[in-house]
Amino acid sequence: MDSPSPEADAASDPGRGPTEWMPARRGVGPWEGPWPDDPRLDPELLRGGDTRNVVDAYRYWSMPAIVEDLDARRHGFHVAIENFENDMNIGTVVRTANAFLAREVHIVGRKRWNRRGAMVTDRYQHVRHHGSVDELVAWAGEQGLPIVAIDNTPGSVPLETARLPERCILLFGQEGPGVTEGAQAAAEMTCSIAQFGSTRSINAGVAAGIAMHAWIRQHADLDRAW
Ligand SMILES: C[S@@+](CC[C@H](N)C(=O)[O-])C[C@H]1O[C@@H](n2cnc3c(N)ncnc32)[C@H](O)[C@@H]1O
Repeated sequence: MDSPSPEADAASDPGRGPTEWMPARRGVGPWEGPWPDDPRLDPELLRGGDTRNVVDAYRYWSMPAIVEDLDARRHGFHVAIENFENDMNIGTVVRTANAFLAREVHIVGRKRWNRRGAMVTDRYQHVRHHGSVDELVAWAGEQGLPIVAIDNTPGSVPLETARLPERCILLFGQEGPGVTEGAQAAAEMTCSIAQFGSTRSINAGVAAGIAMHAWIRQHADLDRAW
């Protein structure tokens, strides 16, 4: 594949780092030079330019090609979030799950959630809906996946020192109720995030980011990060 411009060069060199580190922060313009012969590339994007919020390595790639590439590299952790009352953090959770390459995201309870915070990342993730905690627990059992609840409730162990399973579902609760009793009862363990201030808890989306990164620090191959 020819790389006639710095943007195109960045697009074809996965070693160059993500979009935010490159000069072409708002994406790349129409492809310049000889038409590349790569089935992963989307002719529409090559013609019109690619302004999507994707890392440079995926510039001009079609969405199915990106998902296929992600699928080959996904991590062993899943993320689940209860959605019985308030869905305002779910978009953030989905976006972060994409950044850390969670295998799947599970929405438990109501099917509808506000996609705005996801910034389109949900299209690159596998998002599975379960109508109830029981459905999630049954599915996890079939897959042999332990559930690790994340909440600061009695009986929880500090996330900072806990050993997280390599294959697991990290389960988060909502503003207000937190992780439901049934979900905590089904969990192999509950991990709390150490706090030092006056607030009872942190935002569920922030807690999800901290917990996912705890998994990354324990299990991810950092040589494969962008
Ligand atoms: C705002 S919290 C509400 C529940 C909280 N247990 C309470 O007593 O106020 C919503 C969700 O964020 C996550 N969360 C917030 N703070 C946390 C912490 N310090 N440790 C672990 N999870 C936390 C949990 O998943 C929790 O269910």
